[in-house]
Amino acid sequence: MATSILDQFKENQEVKTIDTTKKLKVGIIGTGWIADAHITEYKKMPDVEIVAGADLINGKAEAFFKKWEIEGARCYPDHKSMLDAEDLDAVSICTYNMTHAECAVYALGKGVNVLLEKPMCVTTEEAAEICRAEKKSGKIISIGFQPRLDPNMQMMKKIVESGELGKVYYIQTGGGRRRGIPTPFGTTFIEKETGGIGALGDIGCYSLDMVLNAVGYPKPLTVSGYKSAFFGTRPDYYPTHPEYAAKFGVDDFAAAFIRLEGDIILDFRIAWAMNMDTPGDTIILGTKGGLRIPSTECWNGSVGGPMKIYHEVAGEQVETEIPILPPSKEGLFYDKIRSFLDAVKENGAAPVPTSQIIYNQAILDGIVKSAEQGREIEIQIPEI
Ligand SMILES: NC(=O)c1ccc[n+]([C@@H]2O[C@H](COP(=O)([O-])OP(=O)(O)OC[C@H]3O[C@@H](n4cnc5c(N)ncnc54)[C@H](O)[C@@H]3O)[C@@H](O)[C@H]2O)c1
Repeated sequence: MATSILDQFKENQEVKTIDTTKKLKVGIIGTGWIADAHITEYKKMPDVEIVAGADLINGKAEAFFKKWEIEGARCYPDHKSMLDAEDLDAVSICTYNMTHAECAVYALGKGVNVLLEKPMCVTTEEAAEICRAEKKSGKIISIGFQPRLDPNMQMMKKIVESGELGKVYYIQTGGGRRRGIPTPFGTTFIEKETGGIGALGDIGCYSLDMVLNAVGYPKPLTVSGYKSAFFGTRPDYYPTHPEYAAKFGVDDFAAAFIRLEGDIILDFRIAWAMNMDTPGDTIILGTKGGLRIPSTECWNGSVGGPMKIYHEVAGEQVETEIPILPPSKEGLFYDKIRSFLDAVKENGAAPVPTSQIIYNQAILDGIVKSAEQGREIEIQIPEI
C-alpha cells in the first residue's frame, strides 16, 4: 500500500543542454552578501557574460568583481546609471528589501529581464507597481525563491495535487530560530530604511511560499496579524555590537491568522529570535489526509525530517512516510538562476511568477498593517 502511494509521486528527471550560440549580457545590482551566491552560479553558465555591476557604496562593486576575477565588468554607483548606460539582457537584483521595487520597475522599464531576490519587496503597493511594470514591458521577472526547486518542496505540491489529502481546509506553518537575527555583514536586515520588514521578509516569505505554492496560491482575503521586537532592541543581544539595538526598526517575531480563498485557514508564525527551539511543524490538513512536514529553522529548501501523510485505509488510521529526496546535482541556487535564464532565452514563463508572489507580499504587508491597527483587516490586491 505504502509503495503504491509513493509510486504516484515519481517523475523523470530531464537533462537539458545549454545553447551557447548567444551569450546573455548580465548585470548585478547590489554587490553585497547574496550577490556572491548569484555570481558563483553565473560563472558556471557557459551562455552568460557578466558585463556590469552597481552598488551605492563607493568601491564595493569594483572590489566584488576583483574578488570574483571578472575582468572588464563596468561598475556604477547605482542601478539607474547602470541601466541607462548598458544594453543588458538580464539583471539580478540583490539589493536590500527597501530598494527592490524601484530597481525592478526601472529595469523592466528599460526592457531588461529581472531576477529579483526575495522578498518581492516590502508593501503590496510596491508589488503592484512591479506587476504593472512587468505587464508593460513584456519582459520576464522571477522572484528568487530557490526552495521552489527543492525536490521535497515539489513533493509537497505533488501530494496535494494528487488528491491524497482531499480538500485542504487548514494549514499551520512558520518557523524560526531561538537566536538568529541576521547581522553578519552589518545592519541592512534590521534597519527600517533598508530592510523595511524583518523576520517576516527574511524567512516568513519562505514558509508562506512553501505552503501557498503547494495548495495552488489561493488569494488571501483577511488577516489578523501580530508583530513584536523584544530581542532585536536589546543591546545585550549583540555582545560585540550593542549599538545595533538602537538601529533595530523591524519585527523579530510575527504571527497571523489568515483566511484564504477556497475556505482555507492559514495559521502562521515566524521568529528571528524567541525563547523556544521551534514554533512547530508545518501541517496541512485535508478531508482525506493530513501532511506533516517536520520543522526546520527556516524553510529555505530543507525539511527537518521525512514528511508523513496521516490517512485512513480500510477504516484503519495509517501513516505513510515520504522518504527525504536528495537535492539536485547542481544545487538550488544554480537551479534558480538556470531556470530564470532558460525562461529568458525561450521567452517562457517566469519560474516564480509575480502573479503568485504578490499574494505572498500582500500577506506580509497585511500582517504589518493589521498589527499596527490592532485588528483584523481585509487584504486588498490592487488592479494590475
Ligand atoms: N535567496 C536567498 O537565499 C537570500 C539569502 C540572503 C539574502 N537574500 C536577499 O537578498 C537581498 C540582499 O541581501 P544581502 O544580504 O546581500 O544585503 P547586503 O546589505 O549585504 O547587500 C545589499 C547591497 O545592495 C546595495 N544597494 C542597495 N540599493 C541599491 C541600488 N539602488 N543600487 C545599487 N546598489 C544598491 C547596498 O549598497 C548593499 O551593498 C535581501 O533582499 C535579502 O532578503 C536572499
